[in-house]
Amino acid sequence: MLIFSGSSNIPLAQKIARYFDKEISPVEIFTFPDGEKRITLSDRVVGETTVLIQSTNSPVDTNYMELFLMTDALKRSGASEIKLVIPYMGYQRQDHIFRDGEGVSLEVMAKILEAVGINEVFSFDLHSIKIPEIFTIPTHNLSALPIFAQKIKEDFSGKEPILISPDMGGVRRIKEISEMLNIPFTTIVKDRDLNNGSICDSKLNGEVGGRQAIMVDDMMSTGETMIKAADLLLEKGATAVFAFATHAVLSGDASQKLQESKIEKVFVTDTVEIPEDKKFAKLEILSIAKVAADALIS
Ligand code: R5P
Repeated sequence: MLIFSGSSNIPLAQKIARYFDKEISPVEIFTFPDGEKRITLSDRVVGETTVLIQSTNSPVDTNYMELFLMTDALKRSGASEIKLVIPYMGYQRQDHIFRDGEGVSLEVMAKILEAVGINEVFSFDLHSIKIPEIFTIPTHNLSALPIFAQKIKEDFSGKEPILISPDMGGVRRIKEISEMLNIPFTTIVKDRDLNNGSICDSKLNGEVGGRQAIMVDDMMSTGETMIKAADLLLEKGATAVFAFATHAVLSGDASQKLQESKIEKVFVTDTVEIPEDKKFAKLEILSIAKVAADALIS
């Protein structure tokens, strides 16, 4: 088996490769003056099972395009199988039509990935459990929840915390981790303005008074969901608020806003590589590399 990586998350790809005692196979990604890219593989891949690792966070289109071109290079060079590890799958929030006239962006990405030659997909905490059905190739929705559960056990045992989904889309997720930990949960109902995506209203179901509140979500983009939820939870009597999210999308000045927020600590994973200038004091990064490696082995 040979392991390849696009340029979006090389540290994670190296960690995954280490579980197989392998190095990432070299690839030249040359960028022409107009921005077009040319991929050249160095290793012979004829008849080989290959693993290609690439997250499609920002710059989303550039990272997707690199992924398509690398897949094509592997296919044309004779790889017998291409397994894609796409730890963070860009465009997953537009997985269906919300309003008339919209497209289904994720389906476009799925069609291209299949057309260029991907045989199997491994991703993490997909926004909806229905996403694997968009693909006609085997697509695995791996999860960081067991890693979060372990961390919560270590850091919060004896503190009688309560788990919170900061949005109704995360109910399945919060029930799952609540069962793993045997800790109660509740949810926040969040309404977004469909035109600009901003949160216009939030309501808490249930009681959090006197407890430490641990929010769990799939991703943090602007950080607005977690920050507003934390304010609401503290207003309703939570003694402290913590945030766990698999994908640290961290758009714009999200890092600064999260650092300045009332959230005590923010836990994320390495599905998205966080540049040094977006890391902040309250942030702790947990790795999903072993979960990805185990899934590739089984
Ligand atoms: C929404 O449906 C997701 O589960 C996240 O809650 C959302 O994408 C987070 O975005 P932001 O950090 O911009 O509020």
